[in-house]
Order: sequence, then C-alpha cells, then structure tokens
Amino acid sequence: MHLVGVSISTMPQLRTLVLCLSMTTALTACSGSSSGGGDGVTNAGDSNQPTTDPVNPDAPDVNPGDEPTAGPPVNPNPEPPAALAPLPNPATSESPGFDDEPSNINRPVTAITRYFLVENPARRIEPQPTLGITETDFATGMPPAVITAENGFDTSTNSAPYFDGLTNQEIDAGQVLNVLYKPVDDDGGLPGMFPNELPESATFTDNFDGTKTFSWMPLQGDIGITPFTVTAVDGDVPSYRAEQTILIKVNAPADPSTIPNFPPVVNEVREHTVRVGDPVLLELKGSDRNSTYPSVEVLTPPPGATVLPHYIFEEITVLRFIPETPGVINIDVLARDADDPNLTGTRTISVTAEPKEAFALPGERLRALAGERGFRLGFAAVQEFYYRPDGALYSDLAGLEFNIVSAENSMKWDYINPEPGTFRWADADNLIAFAKHYNHIVHGHPMIWHRQLPIWIREAPEASLEMHMREFIDRLAVRYGDDVAIWDVINEPIADEGGFRRSIWYNAMGEDYIDIAFRQARDSDPDGILLLNEYDIAWDTPKTETLFPLLDSLLLKSTPIDGVGFQLHIDANFDKFDEVEANFQKVADLGLDIYVTELDVAITAGVATEEDQATVYARILDICLNQPRCKALQIWGFTDQYSWRRDQNPLVFDSAYKPKPAYFALQERLAQ
Ligand code: XIL
Repeated sequence: MHLVGVSISTMPQLRTLVLCLSMTTALTACSGSSSGGGDGVTNAGDSNQPTTDPVNPDAPDVNPGDEPTAGPPVNPNPEPPAALAPLPNPATSESPGFDDEPSNINRPVTAITRYFLVENPARRIEPQPTLGITETDFATGMPPAVITAENGFDTSTNSAPYFDGLTNQEIDAGQVLNVLYKPVDDDGGLPGMFPNELPESATFTDNFDGTKTFSWMPLQGDIGITPFTVTAVDGDVPSYRAEQTILIKVNAPADPSTIPNFPPVVNEVREHTVRVGDPVLLELKGSDRNSTYPSVEVLTPPPGATVLPHYIFEEITVLRFIPETPGVINIDVLARDADDPNLTGTRTISVTAEPKEAFALPGERLRALAGERGFRLGFAAVQEFYYRPDGALYSDLAGLEFNIVSAENSMKWDYINPEPGTFRWADADNLIAFAKHYNHIVHGHPMIWHRQLPIWIREAPEASLEMHMREFIDRLAVRYGDDVAIWDVINEPIADEGGFRRSIWYNAMGEDYIDIAFRQARDSDPDGILLLNEYDIAWDTPKTETLFPLLDSLLLKSTPIDGVGFQLHIDANFDKFDEVEANFQKVADLGLDIYVTELDVAITAGVATEEDQATVYARILDICLNQPRCKALQIWGFTDQYSWRRDQNPLVFDSAYKPKPAYFALQERLAQ
C-alpha cells in the first residue's frame, strides 16, 4: 500500500552547517539547529521535511566541540551522493521464478473463510542444520572453559572453579553414557553447578557428595557430535563462573538392532479456545526417538470431523471439525510405531468452544478510536495463524481491533529464501490478503538483521554479502512495495554494550552496510517508509550512546531513513517513562518519525500484576500520542496464546482471547 506523499528525504538538507566526526573514527554526536515538526499523519517519505523555512535565520553558530543541540544534522555536501551501482545481472543468487509462485488453496485446510489464501509450492525444505561441530573440533579436545565474572571483579585474586577430570566423550547410539561432574576450586570452598539445556531424555542428577552425574542414552537421531555445557559457580563469589562444554560423539553401532526401540509419542498440542461455528484445524504429529515417523490415528473424532493430509509433510495429519455447541471437546489421539505396530503412545487434546457472544468487546474498537486521531495501532501477526486451531477467531479479533499489522516471522530471510533460488512467499502474501480484507496497512519486518538468516547466507563469502543483502532487499521491495507501507530496513545494528554489533553485515562492509541497505530500499521501493529498528533504545542505555551519533551520521550522508522503530520489549515494572519521552523527542528533533514497533510488557509472576502491565501500556501510548512524530504503536502480538514471551503473559488479550486490563487501558487513553 503506498501512502500519499512525495519522497524528499534523499534531497540534501539546506540547514546550518555543522561539523560531525565520521562514524568510523568516533561515535560523536553531531549538532544542528532547526527542528523538524510533524503533522501527526503518516506520509511516506515526509519525515525529513522541515515544516519551517529550511534555512533558520536564528540558528546560533555552532563550533566544533560545542555541546550538541537538538536539530537535524546537516549534509555539508550539496550534491546527492553517488547512486548505488545497478544490481548485478545475472543476480548473485538465483532470482525468484514462476516455480516459486504460491497457488490458491482449494482444500478446506485453513480456518479462514473470509479471504483467499495461497500456499507455497509443495516443496519440502528440511530444517537448517545448526552450524556444525566438526570431527576436527572433537579431535582438538574439550573446548576451553568460558570464564565470566561481574564487571570489576579481579580474576587474578581468585582462581576460577573447574571440573575435575572432565573430557570429551564417545559412545555408540543405544549405549548409556554416564559422566561424573566434580567441580573444584583451588582456593577452597565448594563450587555449585547447573547444566544448560540437556539432550532429550538425558538426566543430570545429584549424588549428594558435591558431584552430579550426566546420564544419556543417545539414539539414531543423535548420531553426530553434540555439545553439552555445565556451568560451575565459585563457592565464594557467585558471579564468578566457568562454563564448560564437552563434545559427545555418538557413532552408529555395527549392529543397528542393538539400539532399543522406544514407543512413539503424540506431539503436544496446547489447549485452545475457539468460537462455535468456526472451522477448527488441528495439525497432529507423532515423534519417535529413533527418528522414524509414527502413523497418527484419531480415536475419538468430534462429530463431523474429517482427516486431511498436510500438503507437504506426510507425517502431519490435519483434523478438521466445526464445533456446533459450546463446551470442552476432548480428542484422544494415538501414535503407532513405524517399525513395531504394537508400540503406541496416546494423548488427549482439549479444545474449548465458546459462543460468539463470549468474545464481544465492550466500548469502541481500538482501531476506531485510533483512526479518529489519524493514528495507527497494530499488532504483529503470528506466522500461519490461518492454519491454527483458533485461526478464524484470531483473524477476526485482530482484524477488527487494529489498523496496522507487522509480520512476526513470515518475512524473515530464513523463511522467505531458505536456499538460493527457493522462495516461500505464501505466508507474506497471506498476511497481505488479511491486511487488505480488514483494511490494515502492513509493516514489513525485517529486511536486514543478524538473526533468522538462512545458513547459505551465514556461510556465504564475505565479499558476496553486499550483493546478497541488496538483492534480498530488492526482492522483498519489488514483490511487496505496493502492499507494504513501512519497512524495518535495518534491525538491531547496535551491540548491547554500545558500538556497532559485529554482525556478518558489519564484518563484511563496516558501518556502511546501513547506508547501503537504506539506499537500496529507497531505490527498490521509493514510497516505503524506511526505519531503523532497535531494542533498548527508548531509555538511556549504552545503546543510545551509539544510536544518536549513528542517526546524525546517516542524516549527514543523506541516507534515506525516515524514522526509528523502538521495539520496547519491556516488563510491567518499567518506570523510565521520562527517558522514553526524552529519547522520542531527540529522534523527533532530528526530523525523523517514531514508531513503537514491538511493544510487549512481561509480567513476572509474584512481582507485577496485570494492573501494573496496563499502566505501562497506557503510559507508552500516552507518550506516543503526545509526540506528533510518533506515528504508530504496534504490539508484538495481541493474545498471550501466541506471544514469544508466552510464559510472562505480556499482551493485551489473554490466551482465551479475553481482554485484559491493558486492553481497557489502551481503550481509555485512546478515547481521551
Ligand atoms: C521474534 C519472534 O517473535 C519469535 O517468534 C521468533 O522465534 C524470534 O523472533 N526483535 C525482533 C523480532 O526484531 O523479529 C523478534 O521476533 C523479537 C525481537
């Protein structure tokens, strides 16, 4: 969707000339004079446009070394910088083709009846292997321990704890491995210890003599090298720790029948609340520790239920039914071993159907209240919500409540383009179909990030990364430019301790990657609103000390950036509202727009309440509404059922789709 407006943000800005040190040499604040304004209406590309005469006659002289003052920095170069070289032809990696095009879903396998959905070509793509540990790594011996201590602790005064006699291990699948963990500290005292994630079915038990035993029977699926980490904690200084990893090499036994066959299990399906009259889809799958797939049988199908195959994964059985009356529906499901039909496992899956009226919401919808102010209020849509048991309810509630939607995962590189020349567009296409149906604008997220990258990119030669980056931006923008209003062009470029994050992008191109990415995005989608999105920058952190000089330097280079996305993954005890207000203002003073892109407010049980959470939501909304440059507030999800921080119920609807105090707090503030 193109918003009205003309892109002028690439034009040189004629403002008072200031000096700004290059980002390469130092992250130093740049200073300017006039301040940008905002009209409260989201217009593509208007963010760098000064609302007053661009030449401010009252601007004070600014000398190098002066305290920075608010105001956009000035590009001392009156010529626009050289355009990016054209993208290579043929492309560096294979371009999307007709064989990547999704097709309409013509079978009753989704929860959605109101708009058309598509599916990817039925091409199975195996999950990406994690970057491998090699035989050479194993042969090199146990990796060195990683020693950590609190800042300021002098590690030369105290020796770190370690594990006595620990080494790498080698075993055949089907055998039991026992490893004794005996932490010692040469300074005396008894160190503690805790394991990182255990392999499935492994145990780590206390021997009540200061030692613990790791015990594991690896099976067929474990053949290869598995790292296992235990942290030893100094007896005197608890922050002084040694993280020790061992490598466990599991071999295939000469006689495969020596590996015992365990019964399969039916994979867990969490409890769901659905609406009477909506189609409910349950994707059922079993798993077996020997890496075969059990067959799945529905023992107690609900009335009228049908069983359908999944369009890609033969091991998934789709159960579809439409609950006609309210109540709890229990479905018994059985998994049968692929090798031995007498080996089975069962599970009961529970779905609660409630009548339509149970989901009626009091008062006005948030989108109506937001719309009256020309404001955007939104959510991030969980990937493939339309295949979920409660997909119809999810779609209707979010569709009618909000007016802007982000892609939580469906536009990420590892999903869209998992292998060179393979593109999975369907999920993003479907998100746009949802948005069109409910009249939302779409926030594309993210173009360039250091996480959720496909392995072929993580392993690509450094010299090829610039073109891969530009091509990916171009492919997203060309396909979705007409439908996506806002892009997170760069996500999370700043390290937690400040400075640039040493991502593959930074390592390949230095800080220039940011400028190049924005230019490519502008070239490929001239009307898109282009954001830099980051976490922990709304209050003062080491990251903000990098953010503001970075923004200054981008503006000086006429980088086509329109605004800053503030992620805001916070908790219900959050109280730095004054800093949020001030940092929003600093961004506004640069002539940039502000988007709250990923707000969620975690509740730590016993520490904070839903009321505390509501207060935080309302305060953030309040700050945004009071700031003319703040164009949208987007929640990272809307129902706790599908939050990435689900344990801490951070969203505004509960897992059963009932509004929480936070919902009413937003409603009340929007109505003011
Ligand atoms: C998260 C998603 O919510 C999860 O489902 C996924 O497993 C990991 O990514 N900052 C971002 C988002 O920019 O893309 C992240 O989303 C949350 C943090």
